[in-house]
Amino acid sequence: MPVIRVTSSSGPYSVTITPGAIGRLGALARRAVRGRTAVVVTDVHVARLWGRAALDSLADAGFSGRMAVLPAGEETKAPRFLESLWSELAEAKAGRDAVVVALGGGVVGDLAGFAAATWNRGIDLVQVPTTLLAMVDASVGGKTGINLPAGKNLAGAFHQPRLVVADLDTLKTLPEREYRAGLAEVVKYGMIGDAGLFGFLEKRRDAVVAREPGLMAEVVARCVAHKARVVARDEREAGLRMVLNLGHTFGHAIEAATRYRRYLHGEAVAIGLCAAGVLSGDRALEGRVRALVTGLGLPDRAKGLDPRKLRVLAGSDKKVRAGRIRYVVPVRIGLARVGGMVSARLESEAWEAAVRGTRV
Ligand SMILES: NC(=O)c1ccc[n+]([C@@H]2O[C@H](COP(=O)([O-])OP(=O)(O)OC[C@H]3O[C@@H](n4cnc5c(N)ncnc54)[C@H](O)[C@@H]3O)[C@@H](O)[C@H]2O)c1
Ligand SMILES: [Zn+2]
Repeated sequence: MPVIRVTSSSGPYSVTITPGAIGRLGALARRAVRGRTAVVVTDVHVARLWGRAALDSLADAGFSGRMAVLPAGEETKAPRFLESLWSELAEAKAGRDAVVVALGGGVVGDLAGFAAATWNRGIDLVQVPTTLLAMVDASVGGKTGINLPAGKNLAGAFHQPRLVVADLDTLKTLPEREYRAGLAEVVKYGMIGDAGLFGFLEKRRDAVVAREPGLMAEVVARCVAHKARVVARDEREAGLRMVLNLGHTFGHAIEAATRYRRYLHGEAVAIGLCAAGVLSGDRALEGRVRALVTGLGLPDRAKGLDPRKLRVLAGSDKKVRAGRIRYVVPVRIGLARVGGMVSARLESEAWEAAVRGTRV
């Protein structure tokens, strides 16, 4: 059973990745947190499917638990739901030793994490990711936050979990589109740090799409291991951690241009990974990325958008310094560089490709 240790400034924590892990949530949490009052935060979909199992496991281990069920979807990552969680914590008489258990996808993880970060200036947090995206990305690394009318993830805090429990059985109930979108982040890890994983995805593509349980443990563990290595060295995104944004400069611009309605985050990232392939200037690499992305059933272009407008949108992103976009550029499969040199020609070809697909 894969267990990955993550080091952080607020102490080490483990990520348990296995089918049936929610059944052991209570026992694992007992060792990782101090108090025995738990507030499980989840959304309506996940509550129906996995809420009972999580509460039972916590109760069996001696926790007194209650569940706060929020609407599903990105709109829930908003100030009023943060406020409703604060009220919930007040009603639960949650003291400094209470624990917030985030049971769900990245929306629940980010919001519940921010509630834990701010309640009593910070209480224990346990992440129980139930989407592929949350397992390989959102639940590890300590970024929490909410969206504001002025932009996504604008209010937030770094708050590391005490424990992460990834139950691979939860992936079975995930809608197909959400699952595939999560695979885009998996491809990203292959591109930035694990050529073996990339090759594995190419070879076992159909089995990965079919969510074969034996494979998922390997796939999720490799991604988490890579994210753990990166955040251990750069917890607050001073530099190295930006490599995790491969494809995201393009992806975020595409999401913004389509008002977050046409594509799921992972789908926009998939297009972004193909565009990043163009930035590398390496046609063979570009071709491999595009073949894998489309083979996994993900889009490789955002038809109908204007590449110049997308470039302008990317230029107004919060990660831009002095007007120049700092791209993450693939060097070869398994290695990418932050702020690598990109010629103006390749840059504009990459934005064109984000809309048209292949290079002209
Ligand atoms: N903190 C970070 O480092 C980080 C990293 C990446 C993304 N994020 C954030 O994550 C969010 C996206 O997360 P997401 O893609 O997990 O979306 P999500 O949380 O909205 O979940 C997607 C949908 O799947 C449903 N769902 C979740 N688990 C399920 C299951 N096991 N079975 C059936 N349905 C299930 C949810 O109810 C929801 O409708 C964004 O807000 C993004 O900003 C944060
Ligand atoms: Zn992402």
